[in-house]
Amino acid sequence: MELKSQINLDKLPRHIAIIMDGNGRWAKQHGKPRVFGHQNGVKSVRETTEAAAELGVDYLTLYAFSTENWNRPKLEVNALMSLLVETLNKEIKTLNKNNIRLQAIGDISKLPKKTYKALLEGIENTKNNTRMTLILALNYSARWEILQAAKGIAEKAKTENLKIEDVNEEVFANFLSTKGVPDPELLIRTSGETRISNFLLWQIAYTELLFVPTFWPDFRKPDLYKAIIDYQNRERRFGKISEQLV
Ligand code: IPE
Ligand code: IPE
Ligand code: MG
Repeated sequence: MELKSQINLDKLPRHIAIIMDGNGRWAKQHGKPRVFGHQNGVKSVRETTEAAAELGVDYLTLYAFSTENWNRPKLEVNALMSLLVETLNKEIKTLNKNNIRLQAIGDISKLPKKTYKALLEGIENTKNNTRMTLILALNYSARWEILQAAKGIAEKAKTENLKIEDVNEEVFANFLSTKGVPDPELLIRTSGETRISNFLLWQIAYTELLFVPTFWPDFRKPDLYKAIIDYQNRERRFGKISEQLV
């Protein structure tokens, strides 16, 4: 049976998050510089976004650049930032055609001016699209995000009428950059690495994690379908026992 038709559309994750990893190793495998891997990762982004939207996923969050990634060689960082500008400028048309809204999480104002500008333009030009929201995590760090939330809450408790005893999970989540976005039900990391690397620490408290060996530039629609089927075959117990779930 075709993979796609094995997906139960009534049990689709509303939000899928992906740590797109393995571009450098993919390039090395092909005897090319690391940047070649990043360039080829763009096609995977396009295919995955399209596949998710076609299925009816509401939110797709892609980890594109972490705060720790600034520590890479300058040449690679610059190439990644330029690639982002180029890709954003080129893909906005497709996003509009596919009715996909672009959003970003992370400390984006610290990105190079050109990248920041292209990103804001992309967000602005797609803001009325309704089929799916594509969230790019850029200059993102989950600890940074949680700290920002803590600071925001402290500030509001000091200067406005927010009472400390009223701070619950819901209030806290509203201070995160993912405010209003449901937690991801499924998190995929490519390239075989089995770590979180400072991604969505608050939001993945009960997320199903899937680590696949595929390098990101090789990730295609069927890989997303397989991931969703894997997710759908799991039992999400949320602390209960099997017999309590009907
Ligand atoms: C992921 O691929 C892309 C970014 C982190 C920007 P990598 O560049 O981390 O590739 P590997 O992990 O070195 O193979
Ligand atoms: C995580 O990948 C960040 C992104 C995918 C953007 P890395 O390749 O930077 O992660 P580590 O450093 O190997 O944990
Ligand atoms: Mg990596």
